[in-house]
Order: sequence, then C-alpha cells, then structure tokens
Amino acid sequence: MEWQNELTRLVKTSYPIVQAPMLGVTTPAMVAAISNAGGLGSLPVGGLSPDQTRSLILQTKALTTKPFAVNLFAHQNSPVNTAQADQMLQFLKKLCAQHQINYPKPDLNSIIFHSYEEQIDILLEENIPVVSFTFGILNKEVIHAFKEKGTVLIGTATYLAEATLLEQNGIDCITAQGMEAGGHRGTFLDSKTLPLIGSFSLIPLVAENCQVPVLAAGGIYNGKTIKAAFTLGAKGVQLGSAFISSNESLAIESYKKSIHDAAETDSVLTKTFSGRWARGIQNKFMMEVENSGLAIPDYPIQNALTTPLRVLAQKQNNKDFTTLWAGQSASKAESKPAGEIFQKLIKETESLP
Ligand SMILES: Cc1cc2nc3c(=O)[nH]c(=O)nc-3n(C[C@H](O)[C@H](O)[C@H](O)COP(=O)(O)O)c2cc1C
Repeated sequence: MEWQNELTRLVKTSYPIVQAPMLGVTTPAMVAAISNAGGLGSLPVGGLSPDQTRSLILQTKALTTKPFAVNLFAHQNSPVNTAQADQMLQFLKKLCAQHQINYPKPDLNSIIFHSYEEQIDILLEENIPVVSFTFGILNKEVIHAFKEKGTVLIGTATYLAEATLLEQNGIDCITAQGMEAGGHRGTFLDSKTLPLIGSFSLIPLVAENCQVPVLAAGGIYNGKTIKAAFTLGAKGVQLGSAFISSNESLAIESYKKSIHDAAETDSVLTKTFSGRWARGIQNKFMMEVENSGLAIPDYPIQNALTTPLRVLAQKQNNKDFTTLWAGQSASKAESKPAGEIFQKLIKETESLP
C-alpha cells in the first residue's frame, strides 16, 4: 500500500487518514494522538469564542509538533425569530419539568453567536497549516488571507454542486461527506431536498468532476472501507465515529454504550438539537421535540436553546437529553487509545491485497 499521495504532500503527513473534527467529542489529546501517529488530527472550534479557540490550539500544540487541522463552521448567523424561540423555550421548560430536570433556561437576549470571522486572526497568528470547514464557504477575503499565508483549505460538500463551488473558489481539498456520516450534514447550498448521497455514489462523482483531492467521510471504519474509498477515487479518508469511544474522547459513558449497542437503523437524521440536520442515535429528546409539532428555530438558535440542557445531561451521564451523534457504522467504534485505533486502521489496510 503506497500511502504517500497528493493529499499527504499537501498536508505534510505520513498517512492520508484524518481524524474528523467532532465538536463536543474531540479533545486536544485526541488530535495530538492522531497527528503524532502520522495522520492528520482535526481540532473543532466551530462557533467557539476567540479565547476558547486560542486556548484549545495552544493545548494541542503543547501535545504535538506535527501538523493538525483546525475546523470552522462557515455559516452566516440568521436573525433570531423571538416568537418562535420563545415557544421552543417554553416547551423545553415543560419537557424538563416532566422529566425532573432543572432546565437552566438561557436568556434569549444574552446569547452570543460567534462567527468564524472572529477566529481567523487567531488561526493566522498561530500558523495553523490546515484549516477545514463545514456549513458553508469562507468569504473571499478570508480565503485570500489564508492563501497568502500558505494555509491548506479543506471544505465540506454533500453533493456535486457544493464540491464544484468550493473548487472554483480555490479550496485545496474537498471532504465528500456521505449520508452515512455521523454529526451535522455540511450541506450549505439550497436544493429541492436535503442531499443524502451515500459515499458509494458521492466519492466517484466528486473525484471524477473535480481536480482537487477528495477526502471521503461517512461510514469508514476499518481497512476494507478505507480501501474501498481509495478505489472509488478518494485521496484520503476522514473518520469520526471510529474515535467517539476512544480514551481521549469527551463522550460520556452512556453515549459510548449507546453507540456500541446501536443497530444501523438507530442512527437517524434530526434537527431537534441544533436546528441543522445531523445524524445521531435516536433518543427521548429527539422524539419529544418531533412529536411536539413545534417549528424548530434555525441553527444556531436551537443549538443555543438546548446547550444548557445538554451540558446538564452530560454531567448526569443522561443519554436521553443530549446529542448522541453517530454515523451508520458507529457501533464498530472501539474503546482504546486513539493512537491504537489509528495503528489498527493502518495495519488492516496494509494487510489487504
Ligand atoms: C460527534 C460528531 C461531531 C462532529 N462535529 C463536527 C464538527 O465539529 N465539524 C465538522 O466539520 N464535522 C463534524 N462532524 C462530522 C465529521 O467531520 C465527519 O463527516 C463524520 O464523522 C464522518 O462520518 P463517520 O462518523 O461515519 O466516520 C461530526 C461528527 C460526529 C460523529
């Protein structure tokens, strides 16, 4: 197996294997473990404050001198529809009371939404070599600033039109996110229906129509699936769910157990937690919000409304009221150090004909 290719040369790693950024799950220790093992660790900072962003970068740098990516959310914030948000707040309060949860109701007027534009100077100052992003496309000035610095840019596409637009805007590599993928859909262009293209269709489509390297994401978890992605035209693979149960993960024990026990049909798409489509294991919260029939405020408003509840549920190891983001092959995730999971992926892939 020849691992060196245009993607490894671009991001300067030994292997074209990327640990997916997973906000709420990935830690600096996880990122460093993968980068130190010769892959590309990705540090998620989407929607975080500039202070949190810098602190996480410094924590990661203290653990590795190897290249790692920093991941941004490239959406524009929508204005808050106060009436809709209020209705949702009242519902959440009632729901929590029914379940004996003391919902720390957020104050709508004091919620601050951070834009990726507030984080750019930090990434430039810290000489981050690779910046990946999802939920949109960075604006032209920001792309220009990164290009001047020599930063490698990786954008997320869920269908061909998004991949083409990213390429036309000078993005160096495209993450083709298949519908199997855990967490949020990166979709950012309007389409008649939510694009749900499986990796088997999406990888060759993007690889055949774009010149830049394709990073395949969604449903990849072992040597065979890595090999399949390369056969379909990918130059690299990005795995998220495979690292959720790692020792370095922030996932609570009941989340790890849920993904371990999950059937492939248990992972569903929902907007209930954040206002954006995301894939995770179905739980009580999702069903209650869906059954309420209420309009769900757009991302990131719904995300902000549910944050205090999720934080509380996590403290209580309560899987019913927090996100259990997971891809369709998440049950294969192993509870081991992230570096060992990574080494096993390399070994399995190399042992294949
Ligand atoms: C828990 C979780 C959190 C995620 N958070 C992010 C994120 O912050 N930024 C991002 O670009 N993608 C995020 N994703 C999506 C991953 O980048 C990737 O597309 C996905 O994990 C690949 O599919 P897999 O889970 O089947 O490996 C997340 C995925 C999961 C499972």
